[in-house]
Amino acid sequence: MTTTITSLHAREVLDSRGRPTVEVDLMLSDATRSRASVPSGASTGRHEAVERRDGDPDRYRGRGVLDAVASVNGEIAAALAGAEPDLASVDARLIDLDGTPDKSRLGANAILAVSLATARAEAAQAGVPLWRHLAGAAEPVLPMPMVNIISGGLHAGRQLDFQDFLIMPVGAGSYREALRWIVEVYESTADVLRERGLTALKADEGGFGPPLASHAAALELLDTAVQRAGLRLGDDVAYALDIAATHFYDASTGRYVLASEDRTCTPDELAALIGDLAARHPILSVEDALAEDDWDGWTALTEALGPRMQVVGDDFFTTNIERLERGIETGAANAVLVKMNQIGTITETLAVVERAKRAGYRTVISARSGETEDPGLADLAVGTAGGQIKVGSVAQSERLAKYNQLLRIEEALGGDDAPYAGREALALETVA
Ligand code: PGA
Ligand code: ZN
Repeated sequence: MTTTITSLHAREVLDSRGRPTVEVDLMLSDATRSRASVPSGASTGRHEAVERRDGDPDRYRGRGVLDAVASVNGEIAAALAGAEPDLASVDARLIDLDGTPDKSRLGANAILAVSLATARAEAAQAGVPLWRHLAGAAEPVLPMPMVNIISGGLHAGRQLDFQDFLIMPVGAGSYREALRWIVEVYESTADVLRERGLTALKADEGGFGPPLASHAAALELLDTAVQRAGLRLGDDVAYALDIAATHFYDASTGRYVLASEDRTCTPDELAALIGDLAARHPILSVEDALAEDDWDGWTALTEALGPRMQVVGDDFFTTNIERLERGIETGAANAVLVKMNQIGTITETLAVVERAKRAGYRTVISARSGETEDPGLADLAVGTAGGQIKVGSVAQSERLAKYNQLLRIEEALGGDDAPYAGREALALETVA
């Protein structure tokens, strides 16, 4: 007898910022159960799928998700009752049912929660963990983490204009070694901050948000912290920047407003500033270095910086295959940040990863600044084997849920012998 979906039940739960989000319980006719909850961003791109929020000022400052919950419990549950838990057809059905290009009618939050719960149920049916199921016939690979240590931008009260200063443990030989190094650098960063009389208060993703004089000062602080942890700059630990430039771009003047440095600059000057910082620090990845719709600027920036570092599109691509396609055609960026809720279904997320890989673009599977305890992102990173994951700092359980899931998967894949991407994930020559 074919197994089918017998019930779908959604509820409003809270994310890591204490904001409402959607959680879904799914049940199959053979009594298999699965559960999924979805994240939410703060520095969102204009082209993202739309998460549905109630807008009722009397509840959670308008951020309630009771309408999205009702979409699942009403329309979606009715449409999927009796359907097989086949991810591709469930996702196609959800997209159809919603009927809008940005999933705004039912809500991308409602749709993604159902999609992820379906992927889990499908894996359970196949009798394998989600990461193995997502890998299909391909070899699963543990990703190298790209980890936020110092935060600025919208996640840290705009102390600095650049949003994230991240480390990549490029010299570690395994995921578990990489994770340990990250924790050691994180702790030595806290030590250095305390010694300098700076606050070690945490930002949204668990990174530190100290008041610093400049972007260069943040990198110098990291240099000190890495060396204090007994690690070598460049050989053991490299850096990534998430500029999130859309969020300090002034469209009326075409200039970027560097409030923390008390000046504005042109796109070329911003690219030059990044190039300058990269000449003095081991920066091997830069994300959203320009605003989300500056296609020509992105092509020029990729020509200038692309040979030396990974150029990642987050708000720029919004995990959208049409935008990625245009990027591939125009030589804009050479890597894509992959956020499930930017597009709204697992099937479309997998398609973006697949397309990126075929074009020789690297992929970084990424969390949002508002996360839940759902560990699924770790499974997605291992299953798609793109070699990189970005989850936020090694603090706060919504982040650790992913890091710890990767430890479990590493154990299942053979411990120290488990396939691990490491520095290879950044290989700077691309295969077209
Ligand atoms: P967000 O930020 O989740 O707030 O959009 C994360 C990022 O920009 O990478
Ligand atoms: Zn980003």
